[in-house]
Amino acid sequence: MNEYQLLRKKHFDAAVAQTGFQTQESLTASFQIPKNLFSELQKTVMDYLYTSSHHAAVKKEVLSDFLEAFSSKAKNVSTSGIVIPKSYCDLAFTNVHRVIAEVMTQSNLREGAEFWIYPFNIRLKGAVKTSDVLSYPTELPHSETWVGCSKRSVLLHIPVLGDMENNLLKVWKPGAEMNADWLRPLASYHDANELIRNSQELSVSSQAGQVLMVDSSLLHGTYRHPNAGPRVSIDLNVVLKNYSNDIFPDEHNLLAERQKLSSQDFFEIGKSLRVHSPDGDGDIFSPVDGMRHPANIKIVKS
Ligand SMILES: [Fe+2]
Repeated sequence: MNEYQLLRKKHFDAAVAQTGFQTQESLTASFQIPKNLFSELQKTVMDYLYTSSHHAAVKKEVLSDFLEAFSSKAKNVSTSGIVIPKSYCDLAFTNVHRVIAEVMTQSNLREGAEFWIYPFNIRLKGAVKTSDVLSYPTELPHSETWVGCSKRSVLLHIPVLGDMENNLLKVWKPGAEMNADWLRPLASYHDANELIRNSQELSVSSQAGQVLMVDSSLLHGTYRHPNAGPRVSIDLNVVLKNYSNDIFPDEHNLLAERQKLSSQDFFEIGKSLRVHSPDGDGDIFSPVDGMRHPANIKIVKS
């Protein structure tokens, strides 16, 4: 590890020590979700998908059949697999949020969070990779900071449904040449190829029933074993109080104010607050500001 990586590790470890997360590989940590809470998460996500398909995806006994039916029926899915909150499924999205907030409370991450990057993504990764159609596919190693996320953030990844064993998230450590500047938003993803050249795969990956925390100075990407089936997962980024602005200046992030959610609001969603979207299937949300995200949502009183 170089000096910058060691500095991040020092702050990451101090943040994790206050939580129920455990570290096996540097700059990563995982939290075992209590079984009943994980079942509730699966149920609310399933409901979200079902509502997203306008109830057209038949609730089948076999989950892979359901996910396949979902893919052909739902219109609110982005090219990278984000199932976008729209007017007809914003309540179902709020219900998923409520469970996620409970997971964050039980893991004790709540206290360590300065703000949450919002909304989180409920993502369907099919059996076939999307690389050919995207400018920078999520299959290639990347850091969320390259698309404008905060340098003070960590990624939280939660596999929820489907083939979580074979369709998973892998993590890489960049080479010793990396530094703070390396985490700037990239003008072009051609630059990324240079940055990922010396990266090394770590022995940690996403596991069913766990939240995987990955520091934004590491790289992550979707990986499918041969014959992997579809899976659904949640990704959420959070800025940690422990990564102070003095030590980790954050002047390059592209976040708009609407994309930063205070802990106070985050933990009220599903109670006194809810997520609202005015958009239907035909609406495409592409504002000029902020980190690029396809969801047009507001937090309103419930
Ligand atoms: Fe990512």
